[in-house]
Amino acid sequence: MEPNTDPFHRKITYLRISITDRCNLRCLYCISADGVRPLTHKDILTYEEILDTTRAAVELGITKVRITGGEPLIRRDILHFIRLLCTIPGLKDVSITTNGTLLKDMAGPIFDAGIRRINISLDTLNPLKFQRITRRDCFDKVREGISAAKETGFSPIKLNVVLIKGLNDNEIPQFAELSIRSPYVIRFIEFMPIGKIACWDRQKVITSSEIKSRLESLGPLQQVTSSGNDGPAKQYRFAHAKGEIGIISPISNHFCADCNRLRLTADGKLRPCLFSDHEIDIKTSLRSGCTQEDIKRLIQQGIAEKPKRHHAGHGNNTGLRPMSKIGG
Ligand code: 5AD
Repeated sequence: MEPNTDPFHRKITYLRISITDRCNLRCLYCISADGVRPLTHKDILTYEEILDTTRAAVELGITKVRITGGEPLIRRDILHFIRLLCTIPGLKDVSITTNGTLLKDMAGPIFDAGIRRINISLDTLNPLKFQRITRRDCFDKVREGISAAKETGFSPIKLNVVLIKGLNDNEIPQFAELSIRSPYVIRFIEFMPIGKIACWDRQKVITSSEIKSRLESLGPLQQVTSSGNDGPAKQYRFAHAKGEIGIISPISNHFCADCNRLRLTADGKLRPCLFSDHEIDIKTSLRSGCTQEDIKRLIQQGIAEKPKRHHAGHGNNTGLRPMSKIGG
């Protein structure tokens, strides 16, 4: 068996790396109004430690990495880190998820550092509602950031929309319209119960089948064949649209059987499943002079301990870490 195959015959090829737990927004489904107590400088992995861990993961068969946070673009010297990350031999794909607030100035530099694919969170097209959801007045900055990403040449540009009933689900038509007019992939994500902060309630979830039928009421949707980079999203497009629509249903239709991911938290824990607090401590080993082979063994442990599936949405079993401390 290959070193990156787990006990359920899944090939683990994708590592999501959270480089900071800090964020300059306070989205109500992710983080509390006063933030979470931030990690101290020495709690978080250094770039060198993250790169060592990634090199070990790549030797085991990881080919794809996503940089997340918190908000990754607020960590100091991120360009230096991206440049080094992008030169790891065997790593085929490096992407980033950002809230877009700093993209106006950073889009060009992160492109030059080697990133081509970008996901940006945008839960509403209404500036006042943006302020209500994120508790910050940054809507224009984010829209400028998204435009800068487009002008810079990122492709694809995916816009993440967490749909919450009664909050932003009335904007499905406007987002659909945006996917027709502009070359963005609008990704509707089911609201997930993560940590205690999310105030999750099954009644607030718009299921993927409901999203799809609401979209279909606007016009015929064509299914788009997967480019291999879509992960768990089902991709669609409206006729003559410049962009696409992705629907991600971790709750109503979990994709655990195809899960190919591991997560590395900013404080150096390997997390085999988003919805489980079971983690493997990498940091302690990294800081006690372990070898590259030792790191590989810990990553293999993470692969071996990936649960068969999660049961999120069916009880109180989704872990305690808020999303901002895991990495979206
Ligand atoms: N449910 C669904 N998506 C979430 N994200 C954060 N918290 C949640 C949640 N409770 C997603 C946001 C963001 C990404 C980083 O993580 O959409 O785009």
